[in-house]
Amino acid sequence: MGHPKIDNQLTSLNNVAIIMDGNGRWAKANKLKITQGHAKGVGVVKDIVEECIAQKINTLTIYAFSSENWSRPKSEINGIKTLIIKAISDQVPELVEQGVKLNFFGNLEDFGPNVINKISLAEDATSLENPSLQLNVALGYGGRKDIIQTTKLLAEKVKDGKISLKDINEDIFAEFSVVPIDNIDLVIRTGGDKRLSNFLLFQIAYAEIMFIDKLWPDFTKQDFISCLESFKNVERRFGKRI
Ligand code: IPE
Ligand code: IPE
Ligand code: MG
Repeated sequence: MGHPKIDNQLTSLNNVAIIMDGNGRWAKANKLKITQGHAKGVGVVKDIVEECIAQKINTLTIYAFSSENWSRPKSEINGIKTLIIKAISDQVPELVEQGVKLNFFGNLEDFGPNVINKISLAEDATSLENPSLQLNVALGYGGRKDIIQTTKLLAEKVKDGKISLKDINEDIFAEFSVVPIDNIDLVIRTGGDKRLSNFLLFQIAYAEIMFIDKLWPDFTKQDFISCLESFKNVERRFGKRI
């Protein structure tokens, strides 16, 4: 089982990741409940998915809930769980029509059986050989936890004689990580903060990173297109003298 790989062309934009931040501030500014901010945020994903398909991007990886987000109030967490279930019911038929393959990753078991069952139904319904887009959703994900889990998994394989220590390299590490993509080309974070908040640490080693001031519910297809346009103007050197 292999993850989608980037070809190493300097200008190729195959794998995009988004830290969708700002739902809470948007809700507050519009005098709405936090959950309504998250609901508005789900609607934005639909537009971005459409544009990714139009621009022939291979994978879109979105940060929907971090391992640290478990420390939020119970009411907000319950609202998010309900929203995940609703978003899947509402959007899967259209994703199937669009040929999008859905993948959820992170410590999914923490979300309980209702969410887990819904996720696996959605993954089954969208399981395609040649999708128009692979949409990866990080849920209960933390980059450091992922690195530690992957390390433990590899240590166990070595201990059981399934792989040898000298075979461990970047490709094998990426393969055993829960993240279904090895290399991210572009990370976009909305909401104005300039941090990664424990998102894909290993996979973003050489990503371009764009911080956008707009709150996620206000982020538009046009804003996304602007990010893709500025990516085209970046000289990616990967350490080389060009
Ligand atoms: C991001 O929006 C969505 C999640 C973390 C689930 P926030 O809820 O963090 O929005 P702000 O940062 O409080 O505005
Ligand atoms: C990052 O946003 C997580 C998601 C967008 C899902 P947070 O709002 O949780 O991050 P911090 O608290 O600003 O670091
Ligand atoms: Mg936030």
